[in-house]
Amino acid sequence: MSVNHVVFVDDDDDLRRANSQTLELAGFTVIPFADAMSALQHLSPDFAGVVVTDVRMPHVDGLEFARRLREMDDGLPVLLITGHGDIEMAVSAIHEGAYDFIAKPYPAERLVQSIRRALDKRALVLENRQLRLAAESSEESLPLIGQTPVMENLRKTLRQVANADVDVLIAGETGTGKEVVAGLLHQWSRRKEGNFVALNCGALPETVIESELFGHEAGAFTGAQKKRIGRIEYASGGTLFLDEIESMPLSTQVKLLRVLETREIAPLGTNEQRAVDLRVVAAAKVDLGSPEQRSSFREDLYYRLNVVTISIPPLRERRDDILLLFAHFARRASARFGTEPVELTATLRARLLEHDWPGNVRELAHFAERTALGIKESEPARERSLEASLPQAMERFEAKLIRDALEAHDGDVRSTIEALGIPRKTFYDKLQRHNIDRSAYVK
Ligand SMILES: Nc1ncnc2c1ncn2[C@@H]1O[C@H](COP(=O)(O)OP(=O)(O)OP(=O)(O)O)[C@@H](O)[C@H]1O
Ligand SMILES: [Mg+2]
Repeated sequence: MSVNHVVFVDDDDDLRRANSQTLELAGFTVIPFADAMSALQHLSPDFAGVVVTDVRMPHVDGLEFARRLREMDDGLPVLLITGHGDIEMAVSAIHEGAYDFIAKPYPAERLVQSIRRALDKRALVLENRQLRLAAESSEESLPLIGQTPVMENLRKTLRQVANADVDVLIAGETGTGKEVVAGLLHQWSRRKEGNFVALNCGALPETVIESELFGHEAGAFTGAQKKRIGRIEYASGGTLFLDEIESMPLSTQVKLLRVLETREIAPLGTNEQRAVDLRVVAAAKVDLGSPEQRSSFREDLYYRLNVVTISIPPLRERRDDILLLFAHFARRASARFGTEPVELTATLRARLLEHDWPGNVRELAHFAERTALGIKESEPARERSLEASLPQAMERFEAKLIRDALEAHDGDVRSTIEALGIPRKTFYDKLQRHNIDRSAYVK
């Protein structure tokens, strides 16, 4: 429902008709009433519009009407009209929460402008409410938030694929949720009792990656003092998550392919073959099937992994999820930091919807955290990566917590570290790093 309804209440038939006509011409949907009680019967919480009412009316007057409306829904803007230019009453009405006060006679444009602003405000209030509700319910039921059709489909596919027990390739830009998806494939499968074992192929040097994957016997190579169970074996019965598989060395790719085909491993330094009950979920930031990848990624391994590919679209291609995700992360952040709930203002909303989110959901989550901490971005910083200043923000927040604790305990070391719940040494390290002078707090 679009938020453009105006309930117009005036006991004067001529004025009511004239005003209704003007407001309809201005593009609003007007619902006229001759008295407050009939209007009250029509209105309910979350009404998609605003109320304009005359003040002087028999029975229930405009002020009493406004009071009752506030009880019903305190985010509903009420505009009062009076013919008696009673400034004192105007002030007290505004004080009590009326949105605006318009004295007769007034130019039509004055009323239209005020209604327009009130409707914008109302739309935001309703959107905030709806997002909060959606965020609350999605937290309970969904670890993968999103109401866009692509996300609905993604969840459906995940449920089917999770149970099918095939190897899966997850494709998506940075921060789109590949790890979340991998985790769900595990949790939603019969393998959930087994281990979920993750290995980041990009983070390990070539020499380490093979012994990590396949394990080794004691003495298999210099430095291999003890026997080591490989990740593949450890994941047997569960799920092996190979992150950033595009970075896997070519020589390892050959060996992995063999494991995928035979479902057996041979730890380094043994001649043994051990059977493994494996499901491999691999994630890649690039399209492994593209010709540019030919030189660094084996085509046969690609086809082996590509039985099922799950593509997660970047956030800019599912913009309708941005506000919902933001509401979720902002709620979580303000709960964690103990800060005021974040209100979605018109500026914030525009900014969220305009940004391209190259860092996808992760970037959005970090931005929500900074917003919850009340950190305002200066304009130029906005163009740079939003990601870069999160550590700074956390630093500042930490320093503030320490200062507050020192203040509260008059600089007494013991009670301050007790309140902060950190070891003494950490406390002194942090004082030094943040350049905080404890003695300044001693009274
Ligand atoms: N749909 C979603 N709902 C809720 N949280 C999400 C969603 N998608 C991503 N996240 C959160 O965003 C962050 C980034 O997600 P994740 O680590 O899964 O991304 P990724 O694709 O693995 O990124 P990278 O390629 O950089 O490793 C995580 O904190 C994750 O919990
Ligand atoms: Mg990841």
